[in-house]
Amino acid sequence: MRWWQKTVVYECYPRSFLDTRGQGTGTIEGIRQKLDYLSSLGTGAIWITPVYVSPMVDNGYDIADYCAIDPLFGTMEDMDKLISDARDRGIRIVMDLVFNHTSDQHPWFLESRKNRENPRSNWYIWRDAKVDGSAPTNWRGIFGGSAWTWCEERGQYYLHTFAKEQPDLNWEEPEVRKALYQCAKFWVDKGIGGFRIDAITYIKKPEVFLDGTPDAEDGLVSVHNMTANTPGILDFLHEFREHTVMGTDLFTVGEANGVSAEELPEWVGEDGGFDMLFEFSHVNLEFKKNEIWTRPDPWTITELKEALRNSQNHTRDAWYPVFFENHDKPRCVDHFFSDKANRTAAAKAIGTILYTMRGTPFLYQGQELGMNRVHWDNIEMYNDISSLGQYELALKEGKNKEEALAAVHRFSRDNARVPMPWNSEKNAGFTEGVPWLKTHEDAEQLCVQQQLNDPDSVLSWYRTLAELRRSHTSLAESSYEEVLAEDEDILGYLREIGEEQILVLVNLSEKEKTYKFDEPGYTILLESCKKHSPGILHPLEAVVLCLKMR
Ligand code: NOJ
Repeated sequence: MRWWQKTVVYECYPRSFLDTRGQGTGTIEGIRQKLDYLSSLGTGAIWITPVYVSPMVDNGYDIADYCAIDPLFGTMEDMDKLISDARDRGIRIVMDLVFNHTSDQHPWFLESRKNRENPRSNWYIWRDAKVDGSAPTNWRGIFGGSAWTWCEERGQYYLHTFAKEQPDLNWEEPEVRKALYQCAKFWVDKGIGGFRIDAITYIKKPEVFLDGTPDAEDGLVSVHNMTANTPGILDFLHEFREHTVMGTDLFTVGEANGVSAEELPEWVGEDGGFDMLFEFSHVNLEFKKNEIWTRPDPWTITELKEALRNSQNHTRDAWYPVFFENHDKPRCVDHFFSDKANRTAAAKAIGTILYTMRGTPFLYQGQELGMNRVHWDNIEMYNDISSLGQYELALKEGKNKEEALAAVHRFSRDNARVPMPWNSEKNAGFTEGVPWLKTHEDAEQLCVQQQLNDPDSVLSWYRTLAELRRSHTSLAESSYEEVLAEDEDILGYLREIGEEQILVLVNLSEKEKTYKFDEPGYTILLESCKKHSPGILHPLEAVVLCLKMR
């Protein structure tokens, strides 16, 4: 087994993690200072969302220099120190590669936009206007509004899958790919542990650009539905692998919105482009066709079970990154459960699956505290660019301000981006200055300091889960077999290797459930409610049992 199959990856959103300079935003040094804390969660790798030079239109996902650190986060020396101090503790750093697009302030784009003749003129996706002067197609960018922006200097439009400040690179141009691979190599040579590769499904564009049937009142169609996962994309990814990580011990995990569980075998494993791929069906159950926040689809726990089953089934010969949260998604305690659910129990239930399912757990900052969404009553309090786009779209669709805000409240990416609460001091110990985003209103109860002193807290549960993974290293290697598959609410599975059989049962519903499972007797490894009663699972109860040999 490879090292990254046996460990936990912690996703760190540095801007909100820990500020060591009183500036209101987190720093690289802040991550370094918390390495022991991260170790206690079983962390063997930290995926850091972008800290490169950036105008920060999309909080760093708009990169102006792939090989330099933005002064907001610190210096390259801070980064080198983090890489080396982390390594001393057995933790590798994972960098976020944003290769579908750059910032519009990247020197490549500044050159490309000048005219149609310059050496980088073909590095981005340029197209002429339609005869009436309008955009080449009716595609809507992921953050709202047209996916095309007019450039006066060139007299052409450029394509941006995301914000207008994030122009898409033209991967068909070999020089672009070469330049990107060199940037990746720069980080490989620094001794990092891997790459998370952003928005990868969009790098290949269709040969012909066509208008689509509008899917909302703005007359546009989501660019995602027109370009994601275009055939031929895998050739690029194989080439990327060959020129960057092949022959090293680094891992790659792609962000692949638009790739289905059934398609995973083509994408991951020895012959695929990546070691792992984030497949989103289990966290996108409410957006089956397109992500318009005022129009979520209803979904059931049975569908959640089905989505998890599919991704497990389709990665049997490969590997799966288990995740329930990230910096783009609502907190899992809100996402999967009702407002009435016991949040501690809900967080423990999801945590148990995260750490015991087959695959590498990806734990998102604050998830180990059971953080939930924030309650803000004004759109001005939100920073997330997609929240603002969705708010505008909702108003265009005839919703009133309250309705538009309710959708933002539910799905805003800021829910996952509020500062990490460390203690009950000023700004929850996140900063001495003014935090860039308001701290969570329940920071005092949620904070690390508080939870460390409470054996029943979500954080203590995660530390116990980490201990379980340490004492049962075989959990990483054992097989995965679903049990109680017909039950609507209980997720159950057996992890088996050699003589060891571990049974995990999680009641994902908010009601008591009975179950029948013919086991030969067991010892309890973990129980999230006070005392597990055989055959009964309390609302949101999770148990991990070691079965006796027959
Ligand atoms: C996916 C990232 O996770 C998200 O935060 C970002 O806004 C987009 N890609 C664009 O890079």
